[in-house]
Amino acid sequence: MKRCHGAANKMAVICVASTKGGVGKTSIAFSLAKDLDYRYMTNDMSIVVTKYDKATYNPHKMPLYDNTVYDFGGFVDKHSHEILDAADIILVPTINDLNSVMKSLKMIKTFQHKTILVFANMVENNRDKQMIKEAIHKYFPHMAFTHMRRSKLLKNALAAGLSATEFYNSNNQTRYLYRQAYAEYYKILKVFTSDEVNNDSDHT
Ligand SMILES: Nc1ncnc2c1ncn2[C@@H]1O[C@H](COP(=O)(O)OP(=O)(O)OP(=O)(O)O)[C@@H](O)[C@H]1O
Ligand SMILES: [Mg+2]
Repeated sequence: MKRCHGAANKMAVICVASTKGGVGKTSIAFSLAKDLDYRYMTNDMSIVVTKYDKATYNPHKMPLYDNTVYDFGGFVDKHSHEILDAADIILVPTINDLNSVMKSLKMIKTFQHKTILVFANMVENNRDKQMIKEAIHKYFPHMAFTHMRRSKLLKNALAAGLSATEFYNSNNQTRYLYRQAYAEYYKILKVFTSDEVNNDSDHT
């Protein structure tokens, strides 16, 4: 796997991309950027710009930087295509919705030469998770896959200007309330700081 630009064992250029709105791109991109102490760059105006001093909004031409999480919303233009092509990994948030799955499949097809991690987000139960997994694996059987349950963790963290880790660790109540969601988030965070793109190990 390509990991040439960044510090040892850290992926340098992470893209979070989906042409489907409201799937959780901004929420996860911000939290990962803050936890990794990376820049956050977006072509789609987001609240993160007011919450994170390393966040930049550029609707036209985003520079390609190392140690950056890119949050790509909307359609993929020629310029974002170049950055996606240069990414160490593309995280594709997908919810259990036909349109979302279809758009993810299209994104995967376009960038199938890249390292991709499908992120099933806002999963309410095992069935949700399985539906997304099966729909993706039908066309891309070896696609790496991870998930996160429906939870307020990312929303409340972003509202407080904190990463999921900072928010989770802020007090005993948050540590209790968000333990499962945080465990899932932590698994995703680990992908960017360790050697393997972890597949969901639980095949439930
Ligand atoms: N795991 C989750 N569980 C529940 N809600 C979530 C989860 N992840 C994100 N959300 C919520 O879903 C909504 C959409 O998230 P977000 O803005 O991150 O999506 P987006 O893909 O960036 O949307 P857009 O395309 O509009 O930029 C937000 O209210 C966010 O808090
Ligand atoms: Mg967004």
